[in-house]
Amino acid sequence: MGLKKLVAGNWKMHGLSNDLDEVKAIATAAAVYPAVDVALCVPAILVERAARAVPGFAIGGQDVHHAEKGAHTGCTSALMLLDAGASLTIVGHSERREAQRESDSEVKAKAEAALSVGLGVILCVGESLEVRDGGGAVAAVMQQLDGSLPDDIDGEAELAVAYEPIWAIGTGKIPTESEISEMHAAIRARLRERYGDAGSGIRILYGGSVKSSNAAEIFAIRDVDGALVGGASLKNQDFVPIVAAAAAVSGK
Ligand code: 13P
Repeated sequence: MGLKKLVAGNWKMHGLSNDLDEVKAIATAAAVYPAVDVALCVPAILVERAARAVPGFAIGGQDVHHAEKGAHTGCTSALMLLDAGASLTIVGHSERREAQRESDSEVKAKAEAALSVGLGVILCVGESLEVRDGGGAVAAVMQQLDGSLPDDIDGEAELAVAYEPIWAIGTGKIPTESEISEMHAAIRARLRERYGDAGSGIRILYGGSVKSSNAAEIFAIRDVDGALVGGASLKNQDFVPIVAAAAAVSGK
């Protein structure tokens, strides 16, 4: 029996007040699939309004600062996200690792800060096309995991890992089934080495050009415990079929 699937949307820098209707539509439609956990990670400024609009539905942030508080202009602390109504946050997305030059150790500190206040974490890892073509994808992702996984996962809040090959994000390109399966198996093995039996309970999401047309195939791959969805999470009619595909694979 696999882990319950988690389908999380990452709205990235999309979403204004008007889009709260879309959040509501997604939350309403997702409730039809109790066999799947569904979450939407929205821009920080929308978190509070989104959380108020859909009580009981998981709203997340997309990043968090590692410090509890202090002189960090423009940043959002874990407690602020929680206070605004978020129940989880993404950390270490490749767009931040690249554009904001976030290091593995910074991502680790962010994950630990979020977990320590009770926010669930989706920690992203993934290789570039150059690394994939050079045959070093698994080694690169293992190195990212070693540097960015939190030391302690004993608290209440859940850690999930998202494998997002950078070259598959927003491109319509998807790794082959065997590439996904090889990577997810390697991540699972690393999680077990690191956390023992608890490593078997950590959900490993796939992210990168997930759409309703490919979701069923991706969810059927062993050790794929869900998806982190970008572009196709912005609209109810694109996102909900992905949730439905996860439910179908779960036998519900
Ligand atoms: P796309 O689904 O748009 O490829 O984005 C994936 C992603 O980066 C989710 O975090």
